[in-house]
Amino acid sequence: MFKPCGPLAGQISVPGDKSISHRALIFSALAVGRSRITGLLEGEDVLATADALRAMGARIEKNDDVWTVHGVGVGGLMQPDQALDMGNSGTSTRLLMGLIASHAISATFVGDASLTKRPMGRVIEPLSAMGADIQARETADHKSCLPLTVRGICPAIPLEYRLPVASAQVKSAILLAGLNTPGITRIIEPVLTRDHSETMLRGFGARIMVETDAEGSRVISLTGEAELQPQRIKVPGDPSSAAFLVVAALIVPGSDIIIENIGINPTRSGLFGILQEMGGDISFLKRRTVGGEPVADIQVRHSALVGVDVPADIAPSMIDEFPILFVAAALASGQTTTSGLHELRVKESDRLSQMAKGLSLLGVVLTEKDDGLVIEGSGGAALSGGRGKAVIETALDHRIAMSFAVAGLATRSGLSIDDIKPVETSFPGFDNLLASLASR
Ligand code: S3P
Repeated sequence: MFKPCGPLAGQISVPGDKSISHRALIFSALAVGRSRITGLLEGEDVLATADALRAMGARIEKNDDVWTVHGVGVGGLMQPDQALDMGNSGTSTRLLMGLIASHAISATFVGDASLTKRPMGRVIEPLSAMGADIQARETADHKSCLPLTVRGICPAIPLEYRLPVASAQVKSAILLAGLNTPGITRIIEPVLTRDHSETMLRGFGARIMVETDAEGSRVISLTGEAELQPQRIKVPGDPSSAAFLVVAALIVPGSDIIIENIGINPTRSGLFGILQEMGGDISFLKRRTVGGEPVADIQVRHSALVGVDVPADIAPSMIDEFPILFVAAALASGQTTTSGLHELRVKESDRLSQMAKGLSLLGVVLTEKDDGLVIEGSGGAALSGGRGKAVIETALDHRIAMSFAVAGLATRSGLSIDDIKPVETSFPGFDNLLASLASR
């Protein structure tokens, strides 16, 4: 049961960034020699990536808080004996498909009920153009889904590819395939998405160039066959996890918290700007750069929020944060509109529909459009929570679970969530951390 509490207070940190953690493990596994990673997210998604890399020959160990990866070198991956179980993780699946595509090995990918419904055509298309043979299950609505088998090819054919959908996973899959491909692999990105792969590849010593063309698209050119040098990596706290606590502090009266060491890369931090525009009292303290990534401590105080129109072009920089933004919008005064969010329908769940269903159960007035929600805020008045009877369905989606855990703090008498377990994929310890802020 998630129910109203007193003011949130205290100084805390959240687990490591999920996107950066996946990439830290994968690039380390491709370096020649031993890399050291601290701050790695030990959530199920990242552990699925680690297990898959182990199955392909990388030695990965953990001692205290330090992860050590003995890389096999680009081109050195071995044939896994068994299917790779990706659990709930789309990022693991799509990035590792790219990695395997340009190695002379094959692998079958399986996953849970949520991952098995997600579209993989977006990576199959460019990786097939590079020469990989990929056989996927075809669904009645013409989606290529898990289980699927990638038969890689070496040497693969370098590709020039314009991303048809704004996706850092697709971009990174192609970059990973390009690492073991002779010549230049080029990606044209009309809409900027998270750039952790580019930053980290540069740090590992790959020859990667990023330019802007005449139309304003980003052009990323990677020279294969790359040699990666082992690194020491400090993973910052995940802004996508911090987001839940930021909104919790904004909506619970009297709250004042500091969340330490959070990545504030502009390709990820769209939510914080929108919340500030809504009147949220959010400050960035001790700004610094760690491993090429901008980081700060974030102070958040309870604020009266007002509704806003969220422009569609900001979506990629807060793509995982819309569920929790909808909770903030439900408590703001006035209307919040969102658009351009088709991608939310193919995340761990259909997030537009799951959020619309759950918020409606709490008495929130909203309209579900094809590509967004329009929400009439309560002006800070407590949500109904169905008098404690509302049971929210999370559909195996960690961010739906955490969004409603936070919404529960602003209900009259609490709400229940059918399955809190998915939170383990990205934010182990979430409920204890939230409870600890409430009890200080
Ligand atoms: C991610 C990219 C995003 C995001 C996901 C992590 C990544 O997905 O939603 O949680 O680490 O590259 P898309 O590439 O599908 O937008």
